[in-house]
Amino acid sequence: MNPVAQELYQRIRREGAIDGKVIKVDRFLNHMVDPVLMDKLGAELYDRFAERKIDKIITVESSGIMIAQAIAGHFGVPFIYAKKKRPLTMQEFYAASSYSFTKQESTTLYVSQEVLLPRERLLFADDFFAAGSTCKAIEQIIEQAGATLVGMAVIINKSDRRDIESILTMDDLEPG
Ligand code: G4P
Repeated sequence: MNPVAQELYQRIRREGAIDGKVIKVDRFLNHMVDPVLMDKLGAELYDRFAERKIDKIITVESSGIMIAQAIAGHFGVPFIYAKKKRPLTMQEFYAASSYSFTKQESTTLYVSQEVLLPRERLLFADDFFAAGSTCKAIEQIIEQAGATLVGMAVIINKSDRRDIESILTMDDLEPG
């Protein structure tokens, strides 16, 4: 485990909890947020894609925003967060629906056509990758825009997919 992964692992052990498949991180990642840790996580995920051409980072409100900002800061590019409610001022938009198994509800994600442009190269970022429904909806939005998804970067990958860059996987959290 690299030093950043080790640090996150220790924080989960000391300040969080693992309750079956649900990881409690709301004292440092997604309710109260440690900006220093978040920046280290962002730097680590940035390193994994540093050689790739990335125009923008894309995430979903709300917990994805902090890690998207941290990664984007290292690239020096903007980040977009898909909204779960369409503001009246958003007249032309891309939209896709995502079903959350964790929350047992469907949500429509909206991105304005003004911020996501054809042929742009995007990196998807999020705090957790679980069933992948959020990422799938973002893929659909990117496709609607005629842009390209270059890769996926998350803090904790709870799935079996290995094409996703992450700091920790469930194997790290449930050793043996
Ligand atoms: P998916 O997007 O990969 O399909 O996963 P799923 O539907 O299961 O997860 C949806 C929501 O649950 C996400 O938040 C995600 O951050 C959160 N989540 C998933 N697994 C965990 C976990 O182990 N611990 C915690 N604390 N959260 C988890 P969201 O609905 O987008 O809402 P928000 O909290 O970002 O506003």
